[in-house]
Amino acid sequence: MNKEIIKLSKISKKFSGNEKDINVLKNINLKINVGELVSLTGPSGSGKSTLLHIIALLDKPTTGEIFFKNKNFSKSSEKEKDSIRKKGISIIYQNHNLLSDFTALENVMMPLLNIGFSWKESLSKAMKTLTLVNLSKRSEHFPSQLSGGEQQRVAVARAIITEPDLILADEPTGSLDRKTADEIFSLFLKLRSKKRAILYATHNRDLSKRADYKLNILDGNVLRKNE
Ligand SMILES: Nc1ncnc2c1ncn2[C@@H]1O[C@H](COP(=O)(O)OP(=O)(O)O)[C@@H](O)[C@H]1O
Ligand SMILES: [Mg+2]
Repeated sequence: MNKEIIKLSKISKKFSGNEKDINVLKNINLKINVGELVSLTGPSGSGKSTLLHIIALLDKPTTGEIFFKNKNFSKSSEKEKDSIRKKGISIIYQNHNLLSDFTALENVMMPLLNIGFSWKESLSKAMKTLTLVNLSKRSEHFPSQLSGGEQQRVAVARAIITEPDLILADEPTGSLDRKTADEIFSLFLKLRSKKRAILYATHNRDLSKRADYKLNILDGNVLRKNE
């Protein structure tokens, strides 16, 4: 059985600037297997977000191919990619992006409603998922009534409710204090499972060290560091 979730083959990404082109990613080859918790580090502007967006099938590479569970998505239609983006891959951002007019519970239910689950089923799964992130008592609160760490936990609940194979996180603890960042990271440890992989970009050295291995981007190249 092949346990590969994502594979990048010779991926490059170039942005055309006003004066000169920026080669953000150069010939990246990368494989992430099921069960792995991987950190992504690199200086600001090194291409972490660009790489995550390409892996999430939200952005297209300039050249190269991308495989999700052994299927090549390089030339797939938006519709095909959309189905993976809704169920197979979830992305968590530094700023949680919760919908402010909806309660925590409603925010978490949303991805299930989007893929056709009934209201009742979505509600019951969302409650269970909020309990998993220790927020069952905050289900009726709106994002503005929650602390930064609680908002980020809602965002994590929303990202995992569809049971995606791959969870991507783009500096998810970037705007949190140390203790709260640790809490969010502990959630990732709890979510680590034989069924899925987690890739998270971080500036925090201590958190990046706690991954199974680190990926570091420098000058457009990604190097794997075992530590
Ligand atoms: N849409 C875009 N158009 C032009 N340049 C971009 C775009 N997105 C990112 N960049 C540039 O690509 C580089 C990498 O950005 P990014 O992936 O956001 O880095 P990081 O997440 O590591 O801070 C930066 O120099 C940034 O300015
Ligand atoms: Mg970034």
